[in-house]
Amino acid sequence: MSQLNLAIWGSGSGSNAQAIIDYFSGSEIVKIVLVVSDVSDSYILERARQTGIPVQYLDATERRNPDFLIGLMNSYQVQMIALAGYMRMVSPRFLALFSGPVLNIHPSLLPAYGGKGMYGNRVHQAILENKETETGITIHLVNEQYDEGEILFQQKVLISPNWSVDELAQAVLKQEHFWYPRIIEKIAKKLPDSL
Ligand code: GRF
Repeated sequence: MSQLNLAIWGSGSGSNAQAIIDYFSGSEIVKIVLVVSDVSDSYILERARQTGIPVQYLDATERRNPDFLIGLMNSYQVQMIALAGYMRMVSPRFLALFSGPVLNIHPSLLPAYGGKGMYGNRVHQAILENKETETGITIHLVNEQYDEGEILFQQKVLISPNWSVDELAQAVLKQEHFWYPRIIEKIAKKLPDSL
């Protein structure tokens, strides 16, 4: 089996990207061939540069052009995409043209606390306001609707009384960092070499 070429797309700090990069360092199963961001000074790009992974900043015209994005993925022979804090919608045309899986990670147990406007600390804030006793992470396939693609994996996180938004965010991120690379690996192992 040859290595599967993975691209990571993000817009922010890239802590999940870092966890994925670290996990697959030296891997025979997954190779990270490209890190993409729509934010020119996002730390995710810096993290990739520090590890020698090619990076691509997408300006507003490029990120809205599915044919450009497909061309970019093809030029790096990308077979699977992991969205990791990518704050833009992936267009239906891109999803129709890209032949591999596109994964996303969300910091709640979807369908709870998902959808438009539910991202970052807004999710955790809403969860604490509603006095939930548990939350978690969801790894899912991306489709045309925000946070509505097929769920591949969920992990619960129990909420301690009196946790702040930051404490909750940290507990959820810890699970994201552990599980996202492992689920990517599991899916990579199942994909045909020809993809
Ligand atoms: C994570 O909480 C993830 O669930 C969501 O965006 C955040 C990205 O954080 N989709 P980071 O950029 O990986 O630190």
